[in-house]
Amino acid sequence: MKRLAQGKIHERISAIPNAWYPAYIIRGNEKNMMIDAGVNLLGPQYLASIKETIGDARLLHYLFLTHSHYDHIGSASYLKRHVPGLKVGAHERLAGLLRKPSVLEMMNRLSGNHVELSGQNAANEDLTMHPFEISFHLKQGDEFNLGGLTCRVYETPGHTRDSLAFYFPEIETLFPGESCGVVQGEAGRNMAHQEYDIKGGIFQERTAYITNLAAQVSHIAGIQGQGVKPETNERIL
Ligand SMILES: [Fe+2]
Repeated sequence: MKRLAQGKIHERISAIPNAWYPAYIIRGNEKNMMIDAGVNLLGPQYLASIKETIGDARLLHYLFLTHSHYDHIGSASYLKRHVPGLKVGAHERLAGLLRKPSVLEMMNRLSGNHVELSGQNAANEDLTMHPFEISFHLKQGDEFNLGGLTCRVYETPGHTRDSLAFYFPEIETLFPGESCGVVQGEAGRNMAHQEYDIKGGIFQERTAYITNLAAQVSHIAGIQGQGVKPETNERIL
């Protein structure tokens, strides 16, 4: 059964709309973090959700990005402009992509295709994705202390070469972005069918998608095989 996370899903975690482009706010005792920032048309909605969740946008300290697809980073520059002091963390390769005008143009064009979201921009703001500063080039083994919560960074190439997963050991929760999946056996075929054929919106040839998915699974399986205890109550978002 598939469930779309929305609202407060743990005492430390809130999923903020839109559910098709999920973003999460993780609340530490001292600092707050957002993971991913979907298509650029959702910028105002994300900002409203941040204020609603933590009271004041200035209390959002970090925005960490799982990978360089437009539906995960499209609103990052908008949030960077509207949240004073916000520090963005991402893989170094993502920072390189942002320096290419052709990449930004393509991301803005793909975001603009989501006409169903155009109503989110009631104030008619400029939601164009512009280059934005990345404060932290994240890499395997990096750790960030949010106060009672640690964000541990894993490099999980496959879906994209710059894919990252974020793990919070104190609450046994993994945010794999789109790094995680199953492609072998019946479950794998079902997932590929659900994600690619039914859910859609994946701008990648199907065989390439399946190949990437297989690589992601192998990588994640290797990481988990090294340190995850099967009896824990781990949460994968
Ligand atoms: Fe993606």
